[in-house]
Amino acid sequence: MMVISKVNLLRLLGAAVCLLLLLNFVGFRTSADGDGASIRIRRVHKYAHIYNRNSTGGGLPAAPLAPSSVLNQEQGIRNSTPTVSVIALANFTSIPQDLSTHKPNPNAAAPLHVNCTDPDPRDGGPITPNTTLESLDIIEAELGPLLHPGGAYQPEDCLAKHHVAIVVPFRDRYAHLSVFLRNIHPFLMKQRIAYRIFIVEQTNGKPFNRAAMMNIGYLEALKLYQWDCFIFHDVDLLPLDDRNLYNCPRQPRHMSVAIDTLNFKLPYRTIFGGVSAMTRQHFQAVNGFSNSFFGWGGEDDDMSNRLKHANLFISRYPINIARYMMLKHQKEKANPKRFENLQNGMGKIEMDGINSIKYSIYSIKEFPTFTWYLAELKNSDKKS
Ligand code: BGC
Ligand code: MN
Repeated sequence: MMVISKVNLLRLLGAAVCLLLLLNFVGFRTSADGDGASIRIRRVHKYAHIYNRNSTGGGLPAAPLAPSSVLNQEQGIRNSTPTVSVIALANFTSIPQDLSTHKPNPNAAAPLHVNCTDPDPRDGGPITPNTTLESLDIIEAELGPLLHPGGAYQPEDCLAKHHVAIVVPFRDRYAHLSVFLRNIHPFLMKQRIAYRIFIVEQTNGKPFNRAAMMNIGYLEALKLYQWDCFIFHDVDLLPLDDRNLYNCPRQPRHMSVAIDTLNFKLPYRTIFGGVSAMTRQHFQAVNGFSNSFFGWGGEDDDMSNRLKHANLFISRYPINIARYMMLKHQKEKANPKRFENLQNGMGKIEMDGINSIKYSIYSIKEFPTFTWYLAELKNSDKKS
């Protein structure tokens, strides 16, 4: 009796194990289409920053939050993908902004499940930037300990409501960069948002293409985290009032309304240059910026046209809040073809933007106060 039941028990156990294995297998397969997708996405996400040194496109992990095909279809935008080759070896030391891996700070005052609230405008007001030139080393030593590698930040005592990628198109402005960083970090940290600073530097060769660098910043930033808000920021602009909140409202927001060098006045109603904020959905809906504007001017006006075309409106903070100081620099040479480009732009929204950009990333580095990309734009500058 004992012997038989032992055998039966073993058989029963064996069958149960087999059944569990089978269920587990079936369950995993089904959940991969539903909930399980998030598991897979997180895996890709987690390692998205580890690029193969020799990879030329094929080795690049898919962007975990690739452009939504639904949105593209809605807007009639052709769903082609950008051409990227990565020649860089990323040296990320952390999983950027992956809140799922965030460890609560044991010294934090409040538990992490408390949602952050936006600062009360009554507590804010004018601020004076520190424009003394300081070496990046000093700025890193000052700010690095307060940040996650790559110039990333999130409040420790509450869950950030806004996840903001600050994208800075860049070339030859190292003095401005250190002043920008030393001012923008303390300004942003007070806002109780999660953010990261992306500096996208264009290689020598073609004339500077500010808009294309912003497109690249957008695409690369999304490989690290599903940012809900993108702030495109000139490196020479410093905010002058801390009620100017860096988040994305329902409509795109032009932030740099009143700049000192422009007599603190909005030059014209449709301007969208300097500093501007767009959600991922806004940016996707307009196919990002045009890649056709080489040299100074017009690319922001083209974005303004794109927004109008997508029935989006430019919103702004009041002129006494959206104030900026511009760091001194030589006047850029304006692109004589900018007006012509602007006219042609309206007919090209669907084929000129984040779906048509071609670029190589030569280097990706995570510095203490910013994440840096060195990018070569492959789109031709001949027609524009
Ligand atoms: C240019 C814009 C620029 C604006 C303000 C316009 O003429 O087309 O690109 O932002 O001037 O300087
Ligand atoms: Mn400028």
